[in-house]
Amino acid sequence: MVSMPPDITPPDPARAAARAALDRLWARGTAFLGCEVAILGGAMSWLSERHLVAAISNAGGFGVIACGAMSPAQLEAEIAGTQAMTDRPFGVNLITMHPQLDDLVQVCLRAGVGHVVLAGGIPPGGTLRAVKDGGARVIAFAPALVLARRLVRTGVDALIIEGSEAGGHIGPVSLGVLAQEILPHIREVPVFVAGGIGRGDAILSYLDMGASGAQLGTRFAASTESIAHPRFKQAFIRAHARDAVPSVQLDDRFPVIPVRGLVNAGTRQFLAHQAETIRRFQSGELTREAAQLAIEHFWAGALRRAAIEGDVDEGSVMAGQSVGMVTDEQPTAAIIADLVEQAVDRLCARQPTQAATGAAAPPP
Ligand SMILES: Cc1cc2nc3c(=O)[nH]c(=O)nc-3n(C[C@H](O)[C@H](O)[C@H](O)COP(=O)(O)O)c2cc1C
Repeated sequence: MVSMPPDITPPDPARAAARAALDRLWARGTAFLGCEVAILGGAMSWLSERHLVAAISNAGGFGVIACGAMSPAQLEAEIAGTQAMTDRPFGVNLITMHPQLDDLVQVCLRAGVGHVVLAGGIPPGGTLRAVKDGGARVIAFAPALVLARRLVRTGVDALIIEGSEAGGHIGPVSLGVLAQEILPHIREVPVFVAGGIGRGDAILSYLDMGASGAQLGTRFAASTESIAHPRFKQAFIRAHARDAVPSVQLDDRFPVIPVRGLVNAGTRQFLAHQAETIRRFQSGELTREAAQLAIEHFWAGALRRAAIEGDVDEGSVMAGQSVGMVTDEQPTAAIIADLVEQAVDRLCARQPTQAATGAAAPPP
């Protein structure tokens, strides 16, 4: 048998320099998170559990457990399960409206979780202090510059700015605008960008603007390690950016929190359900409060139905506009490697000295 020479591709010095430049650009983010690449796997209820979180952290990124509606005991078990699968750092995302928020914080601290992401509104001062006094860092979401400044003053250690392109619950402003509004002005803490990001060159563009890293959800939802139902992953693979739309509110009197997801029979039934509920309110059959509750309850349990049980027709298929860039079920490590390579490609395309420093090329 003829033995083949080993396939050793000599390291390309230009690519090595570009990779080093990328590492410098997101150094503040990697130092803060304690990982190799400043890419967070955004917490996704039901999906960001031990398998996906450990896979992201093991691939050099930063996984985040979605606590969602878990009880303190469930969260404790999920953290322990994740720690059994990775010795790398990961975070926990807590929703501030959770009735046992303080207990959940204590669970994180006892387990030695180093980073707590507080989502769902401005974090209560007491919670923020409890996390910090316990030796962990707080990451919070800033939906506008004025709130970003306030959060920094109250002592948060890092911010995420999430644009309306994102999957799940969204604010009204796109990342393209939030980044311009916030990145030039917040230097005190690292700022991570989220919403609609599907490629590494896009991450690079935000690093150029002053971001310290990026958070992605949608791209990881359909990864091999994600426990999402195969029909949920297939829906992601088939969908285009334009299919991921925010939920629609029919009447100002009955607010609907905007959630971005794939259009399906459920989103159409939601419109009919709102119209029927409003009719019942107007006819005196329902009080205003009862009508509001009826509208809010429509989606109860709907993400689990879609993501875990595979009912992608009537469940809530939360997805960001970046869903158009999900073309395959890929291992998490391959997704992260692709993102890094795309950023490195873009740096290499810049003029040699600029690629090495990370500086953008001037226009031709
Ligand atoms: C299926 C799904 C569920 C999500 N659940 C949560 C959640 O429970 N808490 C949270 O803070 N963000 C949640 N998000 C937002 C993600 O953490 C992340 O910020 C967002 O996905 C980033 O935008 P992208 O989807 O365009 O990558 C969810 C997103 C998706 C797609």
